[in-house]
Amino acid sequence: KRHFLLSVAALSVGVLLSACNKPASEPAAAAPAAPAPAPAARVVTVGTDPTYAPFEFQNEKGEIVGFDIDVVRAAAQKAGLEVKFVSTPWEGAINALTQGDRDLLVSAITITDERKQSIDFTEPYFEASQLIAVSASSTATQLADLKKSKIGVQTSTTGEEVVVKLLGKTSSNIKRFESTPLALSELAAGGVDAVVADNGVISHYLANNPSAKFKALSDPSFAPEFYGLALKKGNTELQTLLNKGLADIKADGSYQKIYDQYFAPAAK
Ligand code: ARG
Repeated sequence: KRHFLLSVAALSVGVLLSACNKPASEPAAAAPAAPAPAPAARVVTVGTDPTYAPFEFQNEKGEIVGFDIDVVRAAAQKAGLEVKFVSTPWEGAINALTQGDRDLLVSAITITDERKQSIDFTEPYFEASQLIAVSASSTATQLADLKKSKIGVQTSTTGEEVVVKLLGKTSSNIKRFESTPLALSELAAGGVDAVVADNGVISHYLANNPSAKFKALSDPSFAPEFYGLALKKGNTELQTLLNKGLADIKADGSYQKIYDQYFAPAAK
């Protein structure tokens, strides 16, 4: 109680003194604006299946890196969002999104009408297509030549879709794997005759594993595919922010820089 009175007294003296210091005619100077505390950036949890080099993979340190990761980081930064990447198996990723465990998915995900039924996408940020990996000694030159072959795919990918079209959904010649690298290892081991996956991933694998002695086959039936970032249905707020971020990085050249880093002919 006594302390309180003392402080009130001190305060009053202070106020009186400062009041006396100023000539009454002069307008009180505006208090210097306190620097606004930087608003804590909103953190977006991004699920990714980092088994898809060069789009998303883990480096020697175990960090999730790749073209997709750089694109999302750059676009999110433009949108004032902070991103946190969480390794998320391909199968179950869409569930994690619809259940709200992830805010966003980036995983070289092809925008398809079927997927659009359950999730939303941003504008496309990359064009791709399927590609077939076979042994360099294979006589096959196109998809139709593999009608009697065992073909490896990553489960629930567009690669699986084209193989299902060729062989039928229930064909025992379709070998489904949890990841594309597992399917490619099986090709190296001779357990399958071919693997169908996205062109960027097959090309990257061939370039980095010359000892596997694979070659890549394209097929005229392979339609262009477009990758988008996947969002929970109805999350238009985040969708708008990211579309703006993607447009910004395309406009200011930073998308091109990232692209060249991973796909320029000179880059390894
Ligand atoms: N683009 C293909 C698809 O959407 C394959 C994507 C697989 N991505 C991955 N990170 N495993 O079906």
